[in-house]
Amino acid sequence: MHSFEYKGGVLHCEGVNLDELVNETGSPVYVYSKATILDHYRRLSAGMSELDCLICYATKANSNLAILNLLAKEGSGFDIVSGGELYRVEKAGGDPGKCTFAGVGKTREEIEMALDAGILSFNAESEAEVEFINQVAGEKGVIAPIALRVNPNVDAKTHKYISTGKSENKFGIDFSIIREAYERASKLPHIKVQGLQMHIGSQLTSIGPFEEAVKKVVPLVEELKERYGIEFFSIGGGMGIVYTDSLASGVGQWWDKKEEKPLTIEEYASTLVPLLKPLDLKIILEPGRFMVGNAGIMITEVLYEKRGSAKTFKIVDAGMNDLIRPALYEGHHDIVPVKEPSSFATEPVDIVGPVCESGDFFAQNRELPEIQAGDRIAILSAGAYGFVMASNYNTRRFPPEVLVDGEKSHIIRPRQSYEDLVSAEVIPD
Ligand code: LLP
Repeated sequence: MHSFEYKGGVLHCEGVNLDELVNETGSPVYVYSKATILDHYRRLSAGMSELDCLICYATKANSNLAILNLLAKEGSGFDIVSGGELYRVEKAGGDPGKCTFAGVGKTREEIEMALDAGILSFNAESEAEVEFINQVAGEKGVIAPIALRVNPNVDAKTHKYISTGKSENKFGIDFSIIREAYERASKLPHIKVQGLQMHIGSQLTSIGPFEEAVKKVVPLVEELKERYGIEFFSIGGGMGIVYTDSLASGVGQWWDKKEEKPLTIEEYASTLVPLLKPLDLKIILEPGRFMVGNAGIMITEVLYEKRGSAKTFKIVDAGMNDLIRPALYEGHHDIVPVKEPSSFATEPVDIVGPVCESGDFFAQNRELPEIQAGDRIAILSAGAYGFVMASNYNTRRFPPEVLVDGEKSHIIRPRQSYEDLVSAEVIPD
């Protein structure tokens, strides 16, 4: 579900009028719906309830403390990829004992931090990493819980930058050598082999690749359970969301909608639960985008219109530094005016930002209703990999983030100040 809809001709998030909100916060601004995030968490949890299942939210998708706190209070665990994310999770009240630590390049400092915090598991991505974790744990006189990440060599059929489960990707340990890797890891004195992990990619819109990967890996998990007594199998994240009919609830019918079929929890659960249940192990999921993607939007204001011989550009006050997905992955985000258009007429436009790069666009040749300078537009499905991938490029300030809860809105991060931008910098004498 999502909670963005027109009411009385103005886009709302839950009970909050977004035009009025932007009058207060200024533009651009990220807005998240608490109800949507909770709905996604609870429905996924319920869908998997036949299993002993732990959801470890992929912190990287949206790591604002308020969002992490929301999920921590629901009992969620967290999948982290850095010391910084562990720091955030702890600050937000998350339980380190429910944290898995992914990533191909964990540093000594991060490993020490995670050992001190008592995380659930290091999801190790190479044998060299396992040996290093063993060494660091040995120096501390502790035992490190680990899972190995297997690369099952399954095509996730997603964008090449977010596909991770093929042999040519840098992630995980090759399926063909994973048994030997377990054997060696199990002999290390400061390592306890606790589980097996995999993650084949992100924004998967069909169940096929998940099913193929789980079917391929389940026999291995059975073997590892038997041989080393592993306790969990993490099937990673990757559940895709719909980016093209985000306001499908009868409003915003003016644009050319592609019929994108969402991968539903029902389909995910009904296919995977029967394959996983016989293992009788803890099953970990690491959803990121699914949890927060459709729960957030970015609102930006149109500054200027420029009509060229080839194109019409609408220049907005947000840039690729605020939301990089279109530039980096040619990611599609639906765009709707904050004030519901009175006419169904559309024209093809490019929505571009102020950054000095040709890649600085949010839409190209997109049929949109008439929008003029001063109008506000909402870039939808921006809750995941939106703000977290923002940068200060062009010395532009981070936009604020707002969490809506019913009729109330909370600024969960104010707009950065110019002082913030330079406060850590030093001019030597
Ligand atoms: N687990 C691991 C080990 C991961 O690497 C990732 C995402 C996830 C879980 C969560 O995947 P999700 O459920 O969100 O698909 N910035 C890109 C996506 C990068 C995903 C990286 N890894 C984008 O904007 O599309």
